[in-house]
Amino acid sequence: LHTIGRGSLAKCLQKVDTFLHRNIGTNVVAVQEEKNGFKSLYAVQAERQEQAEKSVLISCHSRTNEQKFLKYIANYGDIQKYFFYESYGMYAVVEFANQESVASLLEGTAIPSISHESLVPFKSRLLSMRNLDAVDLPNQSSGKKRQAQTSIPINELIQRLSKEESIDQQITSLTEAYQLTEENCRLRFLVCSLLKDIAAAFFPECTIMPFGSSVNGFGKLGCDLDMFLDLDGISGKNATMPKSGLFLEYQMKRANLERIVTQNILSVIGECVDQFGPGCVGVQKILNARCPLVRFVHQPSGFQCDLTANNRVAMKSTELLYLYGELDPRVRHLVFTVRCWARAHSITSSIPGAWISNFSLTVMVLFFLQRRSPPIIPTLDHLRDLAGPEDKCVIEDNDCTFVSDFSKIQLESNTETLEQLLCEFFEFYSSFSFRTLSINIRKGKEQNKPEVAPLHIQNPFETTLNVSKNVNASQLDRFVALCQESSWLIQQNKTAPSRGGTKAKGAITPWGVSTLLLPSQVAGIKSRKRRKFEPASERIKSLLESLKNINKELN
Ligand code: CTP
Ligand code: MG
Repeated sequence: LHTIGRGSLAKCLQKVDTFLHRNIGTNVVAVQEEKNGFKSLYAVQAERQEQAEKSVLISCHSRTNEQKFLKYIANYGDIQKYFFYESYGMYAVVEFANQESVASLLEGTAIPSISHESLVPFKSRLLSMRNLDAVDLPNQSSGKKRQAQTSIPINELIQRLSKEESIDQQITSLTEAYQLTEENCRLRFLVCSLLKDIAAAFFPECTIMPFGSSVNGFGKLGCDLDMFLDLDGISGKNATMPKSGLFLEYQMKRANLERIVTQNILSVIGECVDQFGPGCVGVQKILNARCPLVRFVHQPSGFQCDLTANNRVAMKSTELLYLYGELDPRVRHLVFTVRCWARAHSITSSIPGAWISNFSLTVMVLFFLQRRSPPIIPTLDHLRDLAGPEDKCVIEDNDCTFVSDFSKIQLESNTETLEQLLCEFFEFYSSFSFRTLSINIRKGKEQNKPEVAPLHIQNPFETTLNVSKNVNASQLDRFVALCQESSWLIQQNKTAPSRGGTKAKGAITPWGVSTLLLPSQVAGIKSRKRRKFEPASERIKSLLESLKNINKELN
């Protein structure tokens, strides 16, 4: 199995699984999942992918009567799961128990004719329910199932956290409020599956897998959807070549660089998404980037999508982050809190630029956790040493090998609380010698900087690269200044104020983590000069607005 690509491994496992499930009643994926009480990322992806392939996305009237809607859809087959959500309009995701139901549903659909417009006759699993003789008044009970696909605004979060009893509770509450929901996760896989239907016009056996924060355990509601077009299963890239027989070679198009092939494939698929992709708008082909991509918005889900191909190292770093997040719950909690704090102070941004990325920030948290005494998570070198032959993985001369069997990893008994860790995180980076040292999660130790850059974080797999090459000195200065300020702030606001007087008035005083999310003095002064170059933050405005309200209430 280790001679074939990971994407095809997931697919292959899925096929074996379906075969055994149908014929002997054994579920391979489930067996793999249960092993050691951990689900591997491949098991999660295979399961989610299968759900997505049996699902359809239906735009419907905002006052659709749920019962009548379901009754209508059930004509095509048994419904396994469904939910409604609001994006630009009301949508339903329906997963059938069997894939055949999707085919029979599509057979019963027609492309609407519009008198003065011509349409591309592309059939997809994005449908719209019209004139169902079932429009009713809003149904309160169904309203409960209308899932929000974006996270709560920061001012609401501050209020929510201020009601918690301890900093540890604040941190877990923040994670719960921000992490991807089950439904959002399903929707992400469904969008990948819908995209796959387009790419399959050229490459019928391809898969499109989400990677990055959509699946690594650190995704926040509203984060972008990074997608990876996996063609390894078709190219036979990692397969052993037979000595004789037929080869798919006749008149095959070639290019002397893999990068050019990737650019060509993405160019054609990008064009196709632009011309034929239902709901895909604002398509941009960014083919000259270090990692070529097609960027667009999938309107029915509201996801900002980045489609890449031949990006297997990123898939490995996704798997690594997922593994670290699963090893100890404190990892995810701390990453969520630090990411949220950084976003609130515009340390990170959704617009690419000279600021620290969420990925860099996550690696910084991981490094900090490796530097605890005793360490909370092991180094990447240690994970590589634990790897078995089945884990061996070399991508373009980069050693991406690390253990996949969680049970081989022995953790040290560190009992620090989330509160201690958050305080120590700020302390650690307040005094870190960024000028001379590089952050390195492979070694779990600071290394001398190999090149001049304000912030140097070694890419865990492509070790000659700096993950934070884009970061300029003033952004790093802001980060350090904010760490210093937050370290002080959290010391000053460690205990919840007594509820008596303030609660009677209905006002909530920010404390603990909440105070860290309020606008900063330090960053405000430092960034004033550069304000016009920075993205305008609507959230800061709304936050100031809400603070005014809190003040009014207090007075
Ligand atoms: N990645 C990488 N090296 C980089 C940047 C990104 O290997 N220099 C990989 C990481 O696996 C990362 C994924 O590409 O998780 C997606 O990148 P990005 O979207 O920038 O980060 P996310 O982790 O998805 O975070 P966000 O929520 O901000 O999208
Ligand atoms: Mg991302």
